[in-house]
Amino acid sequence: MADTRKWWKEAVVYQIYPRSFADGNGDGIGDLIGITEHLPYLADLGVDVIWLSPIYKSPNDDNGYDISDYRDIMTEFGTMDDFDRMLERAHSLGLKIVMDLVVNHTSDEHPWFIESRSSRENPYRDFYIWKDGKDGMPPTNWQSVFSGSAWEYDEGTGQYYLHCFTKKQPDLNWDNEKVRDSVFDMMTWWCEKGIDGFRMDVISMISKDPAYPEGPATDGIYGDLIPYVANGPRVHEYLKEMNRRVLSKYDIMTVGETAGVTIDEAKKYANNEGTELGMVFHFEHVDTGATTTPILGKWGYGRPDLKKFRAIMNKWQLELEGAAWGSLYLDNHDQPRMVSRFGNDCEKYREVSAKMLATMLHMMKGTPYVYQGEELGMTNFTFTSVSDCRDVEEINAYRQYVEENKVISAEELLKCFSAMGRDNARTPMQWDDSGNAGFSAAKPWIPVNPNYKEINAKAEVSDPYSVFSYYKKLIRLRHGNDIIVYGTFEPLLTDSGDIYAYRRHLDGMTLTVACSWADHDCPCDLFESLSGDELISNYGTHKPGILQPYEARAVLSPD
Ligand code: GLC
Ligand code: CA
Repeated sequence: MADTRKWWKEAVVYQIYPRSFADGNGDGIGDLIGITEHLPYLADLGVDVIWLSPIYKSPNDDNGYDISDYRDIMTEFGTMDDFDRMLERAHSLGLKIVMDLVVNHTSDEHPWFIESRSSRENPYRDFYIWKDGKDGMPPTNWQSVFSGSAWEYDEGTGQYYLHCFTKKQPDLNWDNEKVRDSVFDMMTWWCEKGIDGFRMDVISMISKDPAYPEGPATDGIYGDLIPYVANGPRVHEYLKEMNRRVLSKYDIMTVGETAGVTIDEAKKYANNEGTELGMVFHFEHVDTGATTTPILGKWGYGRPDLKKFRAIMNKWQLELEGAAWGSLYLDNHDQPRMVSRFGNDCEKYREVSAKMLATMLHMMKGTPYVYQGEELGMTNFTFTSVSDCRDVEEINAYRQYVEENKVISAEELLKCFSAMGRDNARTPMQWDDSGNAGFSAAKPWIPVNPNYKEINAKAEVSDPYSVFSYYKKLIRLRHGNDIIVYGTFEPLLTDSGDIYAYRRHLDGMTLTVACSWADHDCPCDLFESLSGDELISNYGTHKPGILQPYEARAVLSPD
């Protein structure tokens, strides 16, 4: 089926992590007033949509991904009036607002869970997943995504509840239709308020394998839970119901964060008929690279290999064609900074490699996502002590692997955090070179990256050669050229160890893109015989038959 035109296919999305974006009231924590003040900056950048990481009432065990009231705002972030003002201001600037929808689980402080755990007979008991233990052990050997068992024993009622994430994030029981009714009502409430869409947190995990089998133990104790909780037997049924009852009634954008998704599953979630979601985030390309061992899970610090990375990206580009819409991202609040991971963040190559990666991504098919600070080429942070860490994933890993099991030294694990930790993305947005990077008048909740004096928005906005100005141009190009949005994708140079190249095709025109991942000159003759317009490049002058270190070029020509 051909691509139907949709505003969200033509859009560029900017992700805000509110805690770290801008502090409007001087308490060291980002908030809604801070976001509102900086909306003109985003309008200037040219993005269409803002995805807000969760801003609902939350005790912040996982920075808002643990919600205790879906219809109220987190105390630190402000009030519902602040939200309404922000939404109005965004709309007046032509910016849409997409909310993070976290409904695989709630906080254990949500009234539903407080009721649920109060007794086995409570009407809310079945809102969550309660099971008896097995011989004094949890119901299964599943390890939670954030270390330790995925089951927590409740003394009061003598049963275990499932939490795929922290024990303060109990999983909702979607098999209970009252849960679905309650979630759909809440979604409708937000849609009626005028929001423009949802990013759905781990939405692939809402239907569990009813057999609750043991997983093969990876470290002698725990087993992986993903095979039993991701893409479960009823997930598509539930999303179709959500679509019918809520999504189809509004012209909104939806993107599912789909842990464990395969291409075949993605074709269902994001099918072109529009019966489930608009698009999904897959993880294959960001799961490649770090030298992971089964015991340490994701913790490693290896560099991604271009050949593996390209094979994954190309496969998704080709196989979704005509069947489903894709998303394009290299970083977000759960990933390290993309220039540090996939590019080269040394002084000499930081800017040029950040622009190269952006070109590679933004010229592909799918809706691109820009994570706050990415447009400045912000980099990873160097963690030298666990006291610098704020992320529950890092803190739990440190406890489990360094303090309890002693499978890795503190220095080694901190090195892994500096490469792969989620806190790399959560250091404050670097607005200017004043104290705390202009993020806050008070000491920020998480350390500022010391490189803010060189890397900051104030310096970049006025510099026509900055990473910021380059993103502005890329976004403008997408808005002005249908071929970037709707063109088909053709891989090139698929054996090259240095160059990522491809073509896009639409209506008798070809867009040729080549991006070097190397820190040295590489032969490349793709542009030699082309007569066309160079849409963008991160180098002012080219060498014939050569791509210079991290050089990127995109040329539009007739077929
Ligand atoms: C998603 C979020 C992540 C969160 C987790 C649990 O992966 O992106 O930040 O910790 O779900 O809600
Ligand atoms: Ca604040």
